[in-house]
Amino acid sequence: MSRFSALTALLLSLPLLAIAQSPLYGQCGGNGWTGPKTCVSGATCTVINDWYWQCLPGNGPTSSSPTSTPTTTTTTGGPQPTVPAAGNPYTGYEIYLSPYYAAEAQAAAAQISDATQKAKALKVAQIPTFTWFDVIAKTSTLGDYLAEASALGKSSGKKYLVQIVVYDLPDRDCAALASNGEFSIANNGLNNYKGYIDQLVAQIKKYPDVRVVAVIEPDSLANLVTNLNVSKCANAQTAYKAGVTYALQQLNSVGVYMYLDAGHAGWLGWPANLNPAAQLFSQLYRDAGSPQYVRGLATNVANYNALSASSPDPVTQGNPNYDELHYINALAPALQSGGFPAHFIVDQGRSGVQNIRQQWGDWCNVKGAGFGQRPTLSTGSSLIDAIVWIKPGGECDGTTNTSSPRYDSHCGLSDATPNAPEAGQWFQAYFETLVRNASPPL
Ligand SMILES: *[C@@H]1O[C@H](CO)[C@@H](O)[C@H](O)[C@H]1NC(C)=O
Ligand SMILES: *[C@@H]1O[C@H](CO)[C@@H](O)[C@H](O)[C@H]1NC(C)=O
Repeated sequence: MSRFSALTALLLSLPLLAIAQSPLYGQCGGNGWTGPKTCVSGATCTVINDWYWQCLPGNGPTSSSPTSTPTTTTTTGGPQPTVPAAGNPYTGYEIYLSPYYAAEAQAAAAQISDATQKAKALKVAQIPTFTWFDVIAKTSTLGDYLAEASALGKSSGKKYLVQIVVYDLPDRDCAALASNGEFSIANNGLNNYKGYIDQLVAQIKKYPDVRVVAVIEPDSLANLVTNLNVSKCANAQTAYKAGVTYALQQLNSVGVYMYLDAGHAGWLGWPANLNPAAQLFSQLYRDAGSPQYVRGLATNVANYNALSASSPDPVTQGNPNYDELHYINALAPALQSGGFPAHFIVDQGRSGVQNIRQQWGDWCNVKGAGFGQRPTLSTGSSLIDAIVWIKPGGECDGTTNTSSPRYDSHCGLSDATPNAPEAGQWFQAYFETLVRNASPPL
């Protein structure tokens, strides 16, 4: 999973060079831009957001005018009318325990000899996490989970909710290497992705008594906010937007409550990134028809930030939004002005220990992490629906094998845990660390 480094987030403008034309993927306009406003031949200046116009491949107009006119965010008009969002989806529901993760945690506990640690590890099997659908082959298991949740609901008289992560965009993880997916844009990826969404929808439709909450595509839109100078991200822009829009509309049609992934405080929470992020999210939401079940955004997915830090981690220096609560409080009004009355869920699964990173952008199996606050609806903020565990702690972020095609250098940093298997695979030593360092303790 890609995580944007804190330093680079500040540097949206490229250094001013004494050239008349911007190179491919170079900046060519935006508020405050004083550099070249034309692109080299073969590239077209395209509005990414108000602050960042970029030379993208293609032969558009060769004049200095961008291919579309930027719109400016106006706060004077107040919130625009939108379809009212449905309420907090968690209220009144039992969360179904992912049997996949519970089995992983139980198997891991069986390998621990220390009785105290083993007992703590077994408790993890009782904590709800999201189930990630990261390949189309896994979609068939969703029906099994829904059937079981439906049966539990009928036998207990309670209502059940299943938490899933939708994560299979073509050219996935465009700014990093560790979590590259199965579909490629060049090889029918967008249509394959639609097929993947259709598979999820077909199963959800069969169990109208079970509520589904979905996190939509970790990292994808955040990469479009800050990483369009990575050519794989620039090339993926159209497909990501089309894929996410399809997912929102189709999953909305079967009543799935959705939270779009919104990175975290150390990525989109930098002041220079907040408004571009809010614009992208609210525009996509409105263009999708303001789907009623799109409840808002998910933050800190698979990351380590505190919801509310007692003091700023030194690596957050320079960003007033040094934790998720500050980030959410800053982002929400900008979304609201853009016509997206968003609510939030926040991943705290691995946020138990703070001040463990050498740079805020470090994301791979960070040493010394611990399981964090337990899932709860007592969030202390009317903007936050629930504290949740989205990343299944113990599943690896990325391999340390430098020969692997999915090796990402972040996984080789000195604050990353050594001897890590491929992303998604079980990482026993890391799980044991999370158990030992859990805060509050397990
Ligand atoms: C993208 O831009 C950022 C900020 O200017 C820079 O730090 C980063 O190295 C660039 N990445 C590429 C691939 O050019
Ligand atoms: C590292 O990756 C390479 C390439 O995929 C593979 O051949 C090799 O077996 C891997 N090494 C280990 C220790 O897993």
